[in-house]
Amino acid sequence: MDTADANANPQATAVTTQTTVVETGGPSGEPIIVSDYEALAAQRVERTAWDYYRSGADDEVTLRANRAAFERWRFRPRVLVDVSKIDTTTTVLGTPVSMPILVAPTAYHCLAHEEGECATARAAGRAATIMTLSTLATRNIEDVADAATGLLWFQLYVYKDRAVSEMLIRRVEKKGYRALVLTVDTPRLGNRDRDRRNGFALPPHLRMAHFSSDDPNQTDIETRKSVVGTSGLARQAATMFDASLTWEAVDWLRSITNLPILVKGILTGEDAALAVEHGVKGVIVSNHGGRQLDGSLATLEALPEVVAAVNGRVEVILDGGIRRGTDVLKALALGARAVQVGRPILWGLAARGEEGVAHVLEILRAELELAMTLAGRPTLASIDASLVQRAP
Ligand code: FNR
Ligand code: LAC
Repeated sequence: MDTADANANPQATAVTTQTTVVETGGPSGEPIIVSDYEALAAQRVERTAWDYYRSGADDEVTLRANRAAFERWRFRPRVLVDVSKIDTTTTVLGTPVSMPILVAPTAYHCLAHEEGECATARAAGRAATIMTLSTLATRNIEDVADAATGLLWFQLYVYKDRAVSEMLIRRVEKKGYRALVLTVDTPRLGNRDRDRRNGFALPPHLRMAHFSSDDPNQTDIETRKSVVGTSGLARQAATMFDASLTWEAVDWLRSITNLPILVKGILTGEDAALAVEHGVKGVIVSNHGGRQLDGSLATLEALPEVVAAVNGRVEVILDGGIRRGTDVLKALALGARAVQVGRPILWGLAARGEEGVAHVLEILRAELELAMTLAGRPTLASIDASLVQRAP
């Protein structure tokens, strides 16, 4: 489409640069690819909430690096392989899923849509994949489990008062969540400049739904107070999260629950090896979508050393910048068992609620299937490191 076409069809937009044409949506603006949902969501989400969703830390070097890293690997496709049937099904921690694409934990889904995490959980169930519910959700553990039609994991931030974390664990056990995802890259929140400028806070009609506000150890008061120059969420994290956490916390978790534990936020072989020694069942290579330590490795850059250190002992999952089926294929080729998506889920939710999230997941599944076809890799088992090479 050129600019003249775009003018003739005001619902579609096209931005022409010297060499590339960037298009958004189909003929009537309907979303076709994941980034179409980003454009739709940007129009729908209130500005300070949108800033919260999109931001990375500081200068957003790592946020951009996550995407750029995928472009530095190229495929070595094989031909004349029977690709008439493609199988994207797999298991993650022993659980069957329709595809190696899972829903990452993200906070505050009700900023995107009134049904919030409940709608997301239904969409994940329709896609036959796993959703991880955040500690900082706006719909509670019980409501999300009741709404869900598929399997759930629970993401844990460990509070200074461990009784709070234990209370959360008992509730997720009771409601049948299948695993705990311990996020380890957030002793404090990274600096997101827009949130500080906006004095980002949860609007008055929303709550951190797992907690009861009359318990001083659970209060979400900072989260809901707007102070220009700081983020309410950053103040809340500084007040409540335990910055003294060490590997001992993994041992503690294992002593109080039989749920399998994954650690999320690993970027080095050293920490991956320690995670395995401490008995986790999965390692999630993540830099929190570029929202914590700016300048950290892109996740695709960190993946090979983590895979080498883990050496097949536990499963490795990657998140950060997954926007295309080919991104998923590259991560699998470099040793990930599966990937997670964060922001694209929020985009789908904001644009079209449950339908939007289901469509985002279906777009990624269909793109992965096509990429496997064109790469001559009809099964996930046939994907290995020989499928990729570094770009010159
Ligand atoms: C996150 N992420 C996150 N992680 C976590 O462990 N607990 C959480 O509550 C949140 N909340 C959260 C909110 C928002 C708005 C974003 C964008 C991210 C990080 C998330 O799980 C994941 O690591 C990244 O989102 C992956 O990168 P992409 O897919 O967003 O590029
Ligand atoms: C974030 C926290 C909530 O990234 O994980 O905003």
